[in-house]
Amino acid sequence: MDATRALAVQHRTIEALFDNLALETRRRSRATAVSRLAEELLAHLIAEEQVFYPAVQRALERAPATRKTRHEHLALRVGLRRLLETSLGDATFPERIDALKGSFAAHVRDEEAQVFPRFMSAVPEAQREALGAEILSSRPSVWMVTTAGRAAASARDEWASSGRVCLPGPRRKPQG
Ligand SMILES: [Fe+2]
Ligand SMILES: [Fe+2]
Repeated sequence: MDATRALAVQHRTIEALFDNLALETRRRSRATAVSRLAEELLAHLIAEEQVFYPAVQRALERAPATRKTRHEHLALRVGLRRLLETSLGDATFPERIDALKGSFAAHVRDEEAQVFPRFMSAVPEAQREALGAEILSSRPSVWMVTTAGRAAASARDEWASSGRVCLPGPRRKPQG
């Protein structure tokens, strides 16, 4: 799978986890949803930082927005830490989710609109495919434990299957 597609699949997976979290009302399932989200987000950041961005820097003379990217990743880590430090019943919990969701949306916008297209035009398909395979196998085996004392769903297999998710077509600009 093309590296940019593999990362875009991860973006869609994480967006879906944010949506799931918003729908969960029971405390226990919310805890599991937060845990899942944290794990997928960390795995995504690691794949980008350790595999994708080093390749971007090698491929592009003036790597687009790498400083901005570092900033965005830092914001995501800070937002995630704040969310994990907040108790589920705390009044600030929903706004911390919103803050993290907002940071993630900005990250997705920049990468999908600026970084990925430049990378795709600079790097041959075979190389992008090899990098995609490296991204899919870069997932660390991390098990997040929920507040209920159970391990949240976590498996390399699960990640691999989410890598086979069928992506919707390119996003259309709103008419008007
Ligand atoms: Fe990123
Ligand atoms: Fe990303």
